[in-house]
Amino acid sequence: TRLADLEIERGRGGEYHQTAGGDTTVLTTQQGTPVSDDQNSLKVGAPGPTLMEDFHFREKIFHFDHERIPERVVHARGFGAHGYFETLDTLEDVTMADIFQRKGEKTEAFVRFSTVAGNKGSADLARDVRGFAVKLYTKQGNWDLVGNNIPVFFIQDAIKFPDLIHSAKQEPDRGFPQAQTAHDNFWDFISLTPESMHMVMWIMSDRAIPRSFRFMEGFGVHTFRFVNAEGKSTFVKFHWKPKQGLQSVVWNEAVKLNGADPDFHRRDLWDAIQMGDFPEWELGVQLFDEEFAEKFPFDVLDATKIIPEEEVPVRIVGRLVLDRCVDNFFAETEQVAFQTNNIVPGIDFTNDPLLQGRNFSYLDTQLKRLGSPNFTHLPVNAPRCPFHHFQQDGHMAFHNPKGRANYEPNSWGEGPREDPKGGFRTYPAREEGEKLRMRPELFADHYSQARQFYASQTPVEQGHMRDALVFELSKVETPAVRARVVAHLRVIDEGLAKGVAEGLGLRDMPDAADPARPVVEGLPP
Ligand code: HEM
Repeated sequence: TRLADLEIERGRGGEYHQTAGGDTTVLTTQQGTPVSDDQNSLKVGAPGPTLMEDFHFREKIFHFDHERIPERVVHARGFGAHGYFETLDTLEDVTMADIFQRKGEKTEAFVRFSTVAGNKGSADLARDVRGFAVKLYTKQGNWDLVGNNIPVFFIQDAIKFPDLIHSAKQEPDRGFPQAQTAHDNFWDFISLTPESMHMVMWIMSDRAIPRSFRFMEGFGVHTFRFVNAEGKSTFVKFHWKPKQGLQSVVWNEAVKLNGADPDFHRRDLWDAIQMGDFPEWELGVQLFDEEFAEKFPFDVLDATKIIPEEEVPVRIVGRLVLDRCVDNFFAETEQVAFQTNNIVPGIDFTNDPLLQGRNFSYLDTQLKRLGSPNFTHLPVNAPRCPFHHFQQDGHMAFHNPKGRANYEPNSWGEGPREDPKGGFRTYPAREEGEKLRMRPELFADHYSQARQFYASQTPVEQGHMRDALVFELSKVETPAVRARVVAHLRVIDEGLAKGVAEGLGLRDMPDAADPARPVVEGLPP
């Protein structure tokens, strides 16, 4: 049909396509009204006042005015890609998770890599932890493994997360630094939080300046549970191992790259995928039971500790391939919502107090960030398996229940019912005790693994760590904060502490921190 100058054709799906002539689609308003002039607003005379009646102008500006949503409160800067997970080894003896049942089966995946502290527009090569968040669209629901490229974390209890992040991001009075941890507030907090010492060793290492996202490991960090069909639980740690190998830049390169191309990491991933050089990671698991866990001198539920691979080897069970860039950065990378509490039958939480807190935080923050409880309707967040529930209404509801029943049980024979056998059942861990604000005694050793990590580095890498500490602390203006960090370093490695103290030109070597004191009192600056 021809309508004035517009070609209107019926598409294969029955929808109408309007063409402006040739192959060009007609510009319309949000309501589908064809637009005749997108260059000039409607005016009385020339240049006359713009008329309120110009609905196209008002709609266009109104929509533009509302384009921004809040950036993530952490991990604001990130880059995502689509791919798939392939099961290489079945794990039916330890988990009933559907994704681990059939060798060779592929599961759709979406991954978002990120820095933690910097704002959305910050530079890629900041010295920082990298997020490694994976959404696996399994046949039994979305399983999100929201990990990092470092296997441990700064804090043991989620209640400290706002303090950690406040201290790491820009200081509230001056609004800087925007993307680096080299400042007083961060090191003040760290120096008063000895549990962070192991993680500090990792972020001062080359791991914190990866060559690109393709050359990083990923870790689930927490100890999770696998549960098998008989209801038996096995502890599990998740590892992503890059087939490309592990590579970092040196600080000198990082600084130059940040200036020359702040998008270096996202460009690298985009280019590799567009060229067909698909990055790949192996998924490994460390499996151990509660009896074995009790033999460690630390608590396996403490996220500041690793499980040594010499004691529990990593077993490779799958591979992750990223083979497709997003079509739209905002729709996919920005609106994707990973949550630690997105788990599936066969996988369960543990009492790691960091994980327990995360399970509240992600859903909560995403309601604010994405603006509606219906963000699971967005294509990047929607499960690929069938889903049926009675949740309804709210902003932007476009999957409301059909028919009369929006509750169950109902007499109308309508809608879904629960499945006592196949549905997710929480592992019935036995719990008892007094309600207390405390940490288990086995969370108290903050230095042994920090020391082991430093000792595991080559002399060149140890030199990088010393230089990183000198650089970072040289940006700290408060002498007591510098000294307090060196006091902790003395417990980790005297040589490192000495090297840092010399690099900083400290006149007096501070006393070593006391490992027996769980919390270092704040010293007056
Ligand atoms: C975001 C990892 C601890 C709260 C993220 C992201 C990752 C991540 C990878 C980015 C997700 C994305 O790409 O969209 C981790 C790891 C942690 C940890 C590995 C420790 C082991 C915590 C804790 C909390 C927390 C303790 C709070 C109690 C958040 C929030 C976001 C976030 C609020 C933003 C989520 C969003 O807006 O979508 N985290 N995180 N994280 N994390 Fe964590």
